[in-house]
Order: sequence, then structure tokens, then C-alpha cells
Amino acid sequence: MRIDKFICDCLGVSRSEAKNLIKNCKVELNGSRVSSSDLKFDESEAEVFVNGEALTYEKYVYFMLNKPAGLVSATKDAAPTVIDLFKKENRKNLFPVGRLDKDTLGLLIVTDDGDLGHHLTSPKHHVDKTYRVKIEKLLSDDDIRALETGLDIGEGEVTGPAKVTVIDEETILLTISEGKYHQVKRMLEAVGNKVLLLKRISIGGVTLDDNLKEGEYRRLTPSELDILNDNV
Ligand code: URA
Repeated sequence: MRIDKFICDCLGVSRSEAKNLIKNCKVELNGSRVSSSDLKFDESEAEVFVNGEALTYEKYVYFMLNKPAGLVSATKDAAPTVIDLFKKENRKNLFPVGRLDKDTLGLLIVTDDGDLGHHLTSPKHHVDKTYRVKIEKLLSDDDIRALETGLDIGEGEVTGPAKVTVIDEETILLTISEGKYHQVKRMLEAVGNKVLLLKRISIGGVTLDDNLKEGEYRRLTPSELDILNDNV
């Protein structure tokens, strides 16, 4: 692999930023300073340092995004998509894992790892997803029981078991392990209620970072990635 490409992939910087690092003598390969951007080397064997910090090559990239309202969870659409938020050099082959509605906020995993994406969304794997839901009115005990047991949400679909935690009169946490179309909204409708605001706060044990503002993203940490991989 070319050294400038390796730096782009590891650091998520542009090709010209990588070339600048090399030009400014910030890059070392196996203990020697690199002076040429087109130097080729075996990335599985080498040690590369940039500004004195070791780089490790990752085959895939994994981000957590705090999705804002108004963007479509897709790679391409006539409307702006969540992928448009990513820097151009990070965008290659990225896709959102699963879909959030255009008006839903919160945690979206974005990656180029098709296998992980498939495992996290496959109905076979029952990965837990927790939503913070602002609702129109207080849930009754019967409503909670129905939501937790499973209920008919129309179109011949019945939900599996879920978990409800009441935060206050108009806010609940709802954990589901399926991903039916508009599932949370349809579940609340099925008990005569209405979703006013929907935000996903965790997937498969990984929780949305409070420091991420709407529209911001960051790399998953190695331990967050381990937690996600434990689901597959
Ligand atoms: N359920 C919904 O109704 N919408 C979402 O975006 C996610 C889950």
C-alpha cells in the first residue's frame, strides 16, 4: 500500500493532508523518516508513526453519529442523507446500519463493514435498540403490559417482547429487539398514543455519546466495537 493512502485511511485525513505530513517530516516507517508520498510498503508488517504516534491499520471504519432530524438514513437519495454529513475522504463505501425515520434523532452506527451491518440488522439476531420517546399522554399499566408483551401493529405484524421504562408523564424509554417499519410509532399508536419525538440512545449495548451534538460523529472506541461484535 502507498504510505499516503495508509495515512488517509488510518487518520481519516485527505490525500493532500497526508502528503503535507510527509513533506513536513512527520512520518516514520520502521524507524526511518519518510520523504516520498508514493512509497509502497507492506502494511501488515510495518510500524508507522505520525507525529510520534503509532498508527494501526483498520480494514473497516466504524462511527457513531448523532443523527439530526431532516436527513434520510440511506447512502443515496433525492433528499440529503446522513452520509452527506461525513467528510468526503471518510465517505467511501460508508452506509448507515439500519434506518431511522427522517424525523428520528440519535444513535446511528455508520460503517463500511457489510458483515457487521448485516448482523446488527438481521431479524435473526435480535439486537436491542433503546429509544427515548416523547409521547402524547401518560401510559396506563395496561398499555405498558401490552407494549412489553407484544401487540398487533397492523399490516399483519405483531411485535415481540419489549421493555418500557417510564421517565415521566410524557417520556418513556422503549427497548425493542426488532426493526419493523416505523415500529416505535406504530406500537404507540396501537395503544392509542402518539410519538411526539423519537431519539435512539443505544444499540446492542453501545450508548450515544452525550458529547456529540446533533449532526456530529466520532469513531467508535475499541471497547464499543467489542461490545457491538458481542451481538453477532
Ligand atoms: N421506530 C420508528 O417508528 N421510527 C424510527 O425511526 C425507529 C424506530
